[in-house]
Amino acid sequence: MNEKATYIVMLGPPGAGKGTQAKVLAEKLGLVHVSSGDLFRENLSNETELGKLAASYMNKGELVPDDVTIAMVKDRLSRPDCALGAVLDGFPRTPAQAQALNGILAEMNGRVDLVPFISVPNEVLVERLGGRWMSHSGRVYHAINNPPKVKWFDDIDGTPLYQREDDKPETVLHRINVYYEQTSPLIEYYRAAGSLVEIDGTRPIELVTDEIMKVVK
Ligand code: AP5
Repeated sequence: MNEKATYIVMLGPPGAGKGTQAKVLAEKLGLVHVSSGDLFRENLSNETELGKLAASYMNKGELVPDDVTIAMVKDRLSRPDCALGAVLDGFPRTPAQAQALNGILAEMNGRVDLVPFISVPNEVLVERLGGRWMSHSGRVYHAINNPPKVKWFDDIDGTPLYQREDDKPETVLHRINVYYEQTSPLIEYYRAAGSLVEIDGTRPIELVTDEIMKVVK
C-alpha cells in the first residue's frame, strides 16, 4: 500500500519506441520498468512452462491469453521494488487487461496516472523493427538510429546482441494488425479516462523523451 505510487502506461504499436522510452522514464523518475514482453522472454530463456506457452503465441505475433498475462504482471507489480510505482510497457494490450490493471492498482491504492500514446506510421514501424538489435539484459539498439558502439555487442556488458524471432518481416506485419484489432481500442478508453497524451514518436529518441517528460512534470 503506497499513496505516492505513480503508474505510467506506455501505449503504441509494435516498434513505436515504448520500450526505449519506458527505460529512460523509469530511470529518470525512479520507477521500475515493467515490460510484459521482457517478462515473457525471461521466462522463455529460463525454459519455464509459462515461457514455453508464451513462445507459441509470440513467435506467431499473436497475443498471449489474458489470464496468464494478467497473473504475470500482477505478480510483478506486487513485488517490493514497485512500491513507488512503475512504467508499464506492453501491458495492458486488451480492454480486459486494462480493466484488470485498474483492479490490481486499486488494491494497491493506485491508479493509471498517465498514458503516453506514442504514435508512429506503419512504414516507420516496419523499418524500426527490421533494424532492431537486443541485448540479453533487455537493452534495445537500432542498426541505424541507435547503433551499439561496437557492432552487435552490448555497450554495457559486451555480450553479443540478437534479433528477435518475432521481428521477421511477415510476423511484424501481423503484429501491427493485431495491435490495430486488439490494442488500439485502448486509445479511446484512456482518452475517455482523461489520462491519454499523444506523443509524436517519429522524432529522434531524445526529443520524444523530452516531450514525454514535459507532460510528466
Ligand atoms: P513486446 O515485447 O511488448 O513487443 P511490442 O509491443 O510488439 O513492442 P516492441 O518491443 O516490438 O516495440 P517498442 O514499442 O517497445 O519499440 P522499441 O523501443 O523496442 O511483445 C512481444 C510479444 O509478447 C507480443 O507480440 C505478444 O505475443 C506478447 N505480449 C507482450 N505483452 C503482452 C500482453 N500484454 N498481452 C498479450 N501478449 C503480450 O523500438 C523499436 C526500434 O526502434 C529499436 O530498434 C529502437 O532503437 C528504435 N527506436 C525507438 N525509438 C526511436 C525513435 N524515436 N527514432 C528512431 N528509432 C527509434
